[in-house]
Amino acid sequence: MVTAALPYSNGRLHVGHIAGAYLPADTYVRYLRATGAEVRFVCGSDDNGVAALKTAREQGRTVEDLTAHFNQSQQRDFSGLGIEFDIFGGTHQPDYVDIHNKMSQDLFLKIHEKGFFTKRKSKQLYDTEAQQFLPDRFVKGSCPHCKCDCAFGDQCEDCGRSVDQTELLNPVSVMTGSTPELRETIHWYLRLDQLQGRLTEWLAAKKDTEACGATWRTTVLNQSLGRIEAEGLPERAMTRDLTWGVPVPLDDPDAEGKSLYVWFDAPTGYVSFTAAMLEQAGGDPSDYAKWWKDPDCKVLHFIGEDNIVFHAITWPAMLLASHDSDSIQGELGEYQLPHNVVSNAFLNIKFPGKDEEKISKSRGTAVWIEDFLKTFDPDPLRFYLTAIAPEQSRTAFDIDDFVTRNNGELVNAFGNFFNRTMTFAHKYFEGKVPESGERGDVDREQLSRLATIRDKTGVELEACRFKSGLNEVMGLARAGNGYFDLNKPFLSRKTDMIACGRAINVCLQTARTLTTLIAPFLPHTAEKAARMLNLPAGYESWSAAAEELPAGHALGEAEILVKKLDPKEVFADV
Ligand code: 2FM
Ligand code: ZN
Repeated sequence: MVTAALPYSNGRLHVGHIAGAYLPADTYVRYLRATGAEVRFVCGSDDNGVAALKTAREQGRTVEDLTAHFNQSQQRDFSGLGIEFDIFGGTHQPDYVDIHNKMSQDLFLKIHEKGFFTKRKSKQLYDTEAQQFLPDRFVKGSCPHCKCDCAFGDQCEDCGRSVDQTELLNPVSVMTGSTPELRETIHWYLRLDQLQGRLTEWLAAKKDTEACGATWRTTVLNQSLGRIEAEGLPERAMTRDLTWGVPVPLDDPDAEGKSLYVWFDAPTGYVSFTAAMLEQAGGDPSDYAKWWKDPDCKVLHFIGEDNIVFHAITWPAMLLASHDSDSIQGELGEYQLPHNVVSNAFLNIKFPGKDEEKISKSRGTAVWIEDFLKTFDPDPLRFYLTAIAPEQSRTAFDIDDFVTRNNGELVNAFGNFFNRTMTFAHKYFEGKVPESGERGDVDREQLSRLATIRDKTGVELEACRFKSGLNEVMGLARAGNGYFDLNKPFLSRKTDMIACGRAINVCLQTARTLTTLIAPFLPHTAEKAARMLNLPAGYESWSAAAEELPAGHALGEAEILVKKLDPKEVFADV
């Protein structure tokens, strides 16, 4: 079970989103499928909570309309990039909201039954004009730390420190502009303090890759274990005074008008969309348990760095709190804790002639997927975002570098190798794989690389080191070019057609392997390459990647595999 963070349905997707979670997840899933694994890839929009509500208000439209619109536009962006989910749901979309509410409520009730919630009074800001409690983002004021006047109820926009809405100086309601008053409210708090011991034990065990069978990134472990060490785990409110969301399912007058906290229901969306997926396929939705409650199924979450604490602490805590057994991972029939939480850092952006900066919608420093796809093919973007993947720390999408690497590596090394190999095969060998003849050491050496690089790439992908996996594949393309240069078929074709055929045969075998190895990264390019080589369906199969094409195998027509990008065109359009 592979999930990618549910994007908020209050805006479009930009390159930072794709580099963070969706592209690595898609690459991983494609690889798993190629190995024959049974895998499902789940995503959908995060519709509930304050984010969508606030944008809908700003845009003067209903929240239902806003979230439906962006749910659709995000689906188009993903599909344009070849990011193929088995299901793309939405926590408040008409086809999903019932099953989603039910499953989120069931989980809440289970945790309630297990005694991991405390019902407690607290003080919160109330807008008397709007007659409602104000969510954190709906109240502005002066920062209690730096005294600037641009702090929200959760965080200061200036100094970046976290703020409690009740500490804001001169608070003002974003909804009505009035001064809110402090009123008492009641919420249900998850007893993270009681789960801290088991959570720490579970997380600490992930440091040992061999023992836990997954390669956890140090950023994820450091951030989550670091948080526990620094602050401990105080209880956290899992309900909100809000009507847009999943209603709190308790038969208690104090629960009226309240919803589950969006970070409670959103990860549950992974599960409810799985159930919806099964139902849509004519199956039994309760079979979701096969994916979520069976120790034989591994669950991996792909996320961006701002989601680490929620996926490595809060969500596992919710799952743990729902268990009947005291096993940490979960017994058969209980929610399984994640096998891995794979997080990338943020992506900065660098426009030509400008300094590297943060991606920002308001400052207009984003490259939107919708705009990109109007002019460009998806694979150059997939290539670049993997080549510079922020796997350990922030990196930058540098527009100059994007063009340079596309033209220098993807076109010159990868595309060119196919191009020259195909040209020879069509021109001098009737579009067929020539006889291998008697192979020498150089030929055998090149052929021995095929299975070796396949295995090395597999090891990297298995460990979610995508950048390094791509490097292996590009290394094989470069080795192919090296072999071509060394064997000089452009000379032997005039003097020794057998030697020429031998070399082109080895090059075609290399191209065949490259087609499979590049497929998880650049599926559209792989599809074209497979057409050129006339490979049968199923060419993605990892185990068959190094199988030889027989002499006489008829090739397809030669096409331009990857296009050179013109810097002028790119700078004008991005
Ligand atoms: O940060 C975000 O975009 C959140 N909407 C991610 C939610 S992930 C999950 F929990 F659903
Ligand atoms: Zn401040």
